Amino acid sequence: MTRTNKDSLNKNDSRNGVLTHLAIIMDGNGRWAENKNLPRLAGHRAGTENIRSIIEESTKLGIKHLTLFAFSTENWRRPSSEVEGIMNILTNVIKNETPSLHQKGVKISHIGSLDGLSQELKEAILYTTDLTRNNKSLYLNIAFNYGGRTEILEAVKKILADNISVRNLDEKTFASYLDTSGIPDPDLIIRTGGEVRLSNFLIWQSAYSEYYSTTKFWPDFKKRDLRKALATYQQRNRRFGEITTD
Ligand code: IPE
Ligand code: IPE
Ligand code: MG
Repeated sequence: MTRTNKDSLNKNDSRNGVLTHLAIIMDGNGRWAENKNLPRLAGHRAGTENIRSIIEESTKLGIKHLTLFAFSTENWRRPSSEVEGIMNILTNVIKNETPSLHQKGVKISHIGSLDGLSQELKEAILYTTDLTRNNKSLYLNIAFNYGGRTEILEAVKKILADNISVRNLDEKTFASYLDTSGIPDPDLIIRTGGEVRLSNFLIWQSAYSEYYSTTKFWPDFKKRDLRKALATYQQRNRRFGEITTD
């Protein structure tokens, strides 16, 4: 393995037990609501409410980067009423939560595309990311209208447009063209809702991430569940292809 490959896998930053970047696939909102005979949007609202306490606990646990998957490029395939409802919920939550997150020193970033979002949501995202850009207590990345394949394809297009030569194109350079440029790869990816798949989330960045799947629906995933997931992560032996660990 070349030095470049090693570096791009963040091995040097990801010693066993250290969790710098946590990513969460917040799944199961719809089923949570259906189980309670509520409309699916009630589940999305409850799921959004749940984010606040998970951000709080993540900060307390010393996590520096938190990435939350909120809406995928494939989620446009849902009925338009659900899509619009999710957009409205996100617009409101950004507007309502930005002041307190800013006050707590959270830097909010968006990964994914702004294309297709309502003007109001676009403006809310641009406002909050600009306002919080110098904050450092927690780097919070919201993956909204995000898909790993689109992200990779867009990176390739930018690389071609920049005339990067084949000789100069290595993993590090490639990664710098992704939406996650400057963010270390996720150490742990938690998925709620019971599925065991990535659903197009961080497909480049997750090459050596640990996975944790729980059957709990996202609105039911509480601080203690997060601590349990992290305790499991502490037991994992991350080898990055090597055979020695200690
Ligand atoms: C996750 O919950 C939120 C989004 C994908 C927008 P779901 O809406 O996928 O909930 P389930 O999986 O149908 O229960
Ligand atoms: C993944 O959940 C996307 C988000 C949680 C935002 P989905 O519910 O869209 O995933 P699939 O359809 O079960 O793969
Ligand atoms: Mg789902």
